[in-house]
Amino acid sequence: MRRSVLLLLIAMVLVLVPHVFGQTGQLPITASGVVMHGPERIGNLEPVLIPPDNPQTSAKILLGKQVYFDTRLSKDNTISCATCHDPAKGWSDAGPTSKGINSQMGGRRSPPVVNAAYSQLQFWDGRAPTLEEQAKGPIQNPIEMGNTHDVMLRTLDDIPGYVEAFKNVFGTTPITVDQVAQAIAAFERTVVTTDSPFDRFVRGDGGALTRQERQGLEIFNGKGHCTACHWGGYLSDGRFHNLGAEPIEPGKPDNGRMDVTKNASDLGAFKTPTVRDAALRAPYLHTGKEKTLEDVVRLYNRGGGTEDTNLDPMMVPLGLSEGEIQALVAFMTRAMTSTNPEVAGVKPIPPAELPK
Ligand code: HEC
Ligand code: HEC
Repeated sequence: MRRSVLLLLIAMVLVLVPHVFGQTGQLPITASGVVMHGPERIGNLEPVLIPPDNPQTSAKILLGKQVYFDTRLSKDNTISCATCHDPAKGWSDAGPTSKGINSQMGGRRSPPVVNAAYSQLQFWDGRAPTLEEQAKGPIQNPIEMGNTHDVMLRTLDDIPGYVEAFKNVFGTTPITVDQVAQAIAAFERTVVTTDSPFDRFVRGDGGALTRQERQGLEIFNGKGHCTACHWGGYLSDGRFHNLGAEPIEPGKPDNGRMDVTKNASDLGAFKTPTVRDAALRAPYLHTGKEKTLEDVVRLYNRGGGTEDTNLDPMMVPLGLSEGEIQALVAFMTRAMTSTNPEVAGVKPIPPAELPK
């Protein structure tokens, strides 16, 4: 009996070790029992998958970028996608939740558009399957852009520069909602990170991380078991968990994923966000309740908000020391922040330069 347990353990090690250090074999975190918790090792992002029915062209990407920064998509000309997903704020907004048309406040934090192309489902509750579907939502959302698709299309059809650009890209007139959504999605698929100190480290530059950041990476991947949910190049499992961050209060419930699946086990569960570029977009979680990355780590260290009855079973107290908490924060701060210009250097298109 004992022996079979031992054999099983050895077999598990043989299966797991190539998984952790295999492939490029460049994640040199060999010390102190690093355990791989997710099915995919963390590392660089793969190239974005482009859906066959919305191929990338440079004209389409530029058009999508113009539309993304154009406030004329909103009912009263004041709100663009970039109002709430601002490149200068980590492609999110100041938060804690978003202010839409007529200064109305939404109930959820604006998630980042950077790297959203890697998310299998869009929104905190995963209700949109693609970027294309997602992009149609905010235009009609009464507290975001407050418009209707028809009025928005009429506005665009009255702008000769857009009529020409859409015809160029899609070959047909008049402009359709699907075309607007496809152009935006094509632009969003270019807003991806390829270069952070962590990415350089994974590619083999051992000096890209400080000692403290390296310790943080080990904790992320080991004692903190963050990679149980934040794994792969995108550092998210694309699934939904209840961290107990917000107690489910009668009268003001945000049921999260449960509203989509109608499944009680999804009560209060929200999509795992990427931790890439997180330092650029405080505050955190779906309500923006946690002000700093350190606050988030302390929440995990306590085992989440314990008052929640549907707490994810993976939320357990971690017993991290003060130094370990700081190392984890250091890892998520500089090491996970990208520097590539497609992402960090994107400037809003000034109204005068938009199609007329
Ligand atoms: C008033 C603020 C606001 C505006 C304007 C806005 N968004 Fe959002 N966006 C949000 C919020 C809040 C969420 C999360 C809502 C939810 O999960 O229910 C979100 C979610 C998203 C997501 C999903 C990201 C993810 O990881 O799930 C994408 C992509 C996105 N928005 C793109 C856009 C685009 C494109 C536009 C313009 C057409 C736009 N947004 C306009 C606030 C806004
Ligand atoms: C059980 C799965 C799970 C584990 C384990 C986990 N996370 Fe998360 N993480 C999530 C989910 C889900 C959210 C969003 C929850 C919400 O908003 O209600 C989140 C949010 C975050 C955020 C906020 C990101 C943002 O944009 O708001 C950070 C930072 C973070 N996690 C870091 C960590 C670290 C560090 C660890 C390890 C100590 C960890 N996570 C462990 C699932 C997990």
